Amino acid sequence: MKLKWAGAAVILACILWSVTGSAQESHVGKLAGNAKRGKALYERYCIFCHGVDGDGRGESAPYLDPKPRDFTKAMFKCRSTPSGSLPLDTDLYDTISRGVHASGMPSWQPLLRQERVDLVAYIKTFSPAFQEEKPGAPVEIPPEPPATAESIQRGAGLFQSMNCWSCHGKDGKGQGPSAATLVDSKGYPITPFDFTSGSKFKCGESDQDMFRDLVTGLDGTPMPSFAAALNADQRWDVVHYIRSLSAHKIHAKLKIEPVGK
Ligand code: HEC
Ligand code: HEC
Repeated sequence: MKLKWAGAAVILACILWSVTGSAQESHVGKLAGNAKRGKALYERYCIFCHGVDGDGRGESAPYLDPKPRDFTKAMFKCRSTPSGSLPLDTDLYDTISRGVHASGMPSWQPLLRQERVDLVAYIKTFSPAFQEEKPGAPVEIPPEPPATAESIQRGAGLFQSMNCWSCHGKDGKGQGPSAATLVDSKGYPITPFDFTSGSKFKCGESDQDMFRDLVTGLDGTPMPSFAAALNADQRWDVVHYIRSLSAHKIHAKLKIEPVGK
């Protein structure tokens, strides 16, 4: 009799499992994501780029550069976690909300917050890594010191000594000596960022986002992590230097006259 009940419990658990689609979950603030609802949204909004199996081979993929992310690899550019680590749910949520600038990946801000959390739960089902590993501890971002002329000067020195220029170019325009040969983890050519363009970064706009990028690197691209090579003060110096390269563009947008004119 007892055995029968145990059997029934197992069957019930299996039914529940198949109804919910997967055990994968996501949490952003107070919202809990549901992978089954996420699947329906994915099929409506994401499938033609990211593909039925989440491998980035949707119908539109051949026409896109860069290519849509292959979720089966569980490797993401925009994370708050160390290089080689899984992203946090909030990282994926932020990317979906923000979109990825200079790529086909649109911003999904118009979807409800709950819908975006459901999408996070679903895209995590494409890789077993999310069941097997935990994301690393998020990067700590200390308060930003003022962007003084001295800080910018030190940042310029680090841009040289850390070989940022070999990819991003001495003038920061993205055409350093290595630039033409760079490829991403799938073997597609990839262009280093042009810091003079004044255009948006992929993983967020703020100085804090750039500081974080320097710690985490952009996984799946040649943009490395400088977690070990630069300390926090040095990272802020580099951030201030990079900002100075596009300052005239930002000033032009805000219609501020350059100093000394
Ligand atoms: C028109 C094509 C297109 C559509 C539609 C699209 N994406 Fe993307 N997505 C991309 C491309 C291209 C990238 C890669 C951008 C890059 O590597 O710079 C990307 C990247 C991503 C990333 C990874 C970013 C990172 O940090 O590596 C996530 C997550 C993502 N998309 C989620 C979604 C979700 C969820 C939807 C549907 C709501 C969606 N995408 C719809 C094209 C698309
Ligand atoms: C080996 C080549 C290489 C080196 C060295 C390198 N980068 Fe990059 N970097 C890249 C590539 C390629 C990208 C574009 C990644 C993409 O579009 O997905 C990039 C992107 C960036 C971005 C934009 C991130 C975003 O969210 O869009 C910043 C900021 C950046 N690099 C700063 C630096 C700094 C500062 C250094 C030196 C301390 C440096 N990089 C060294 C190749 C490199």
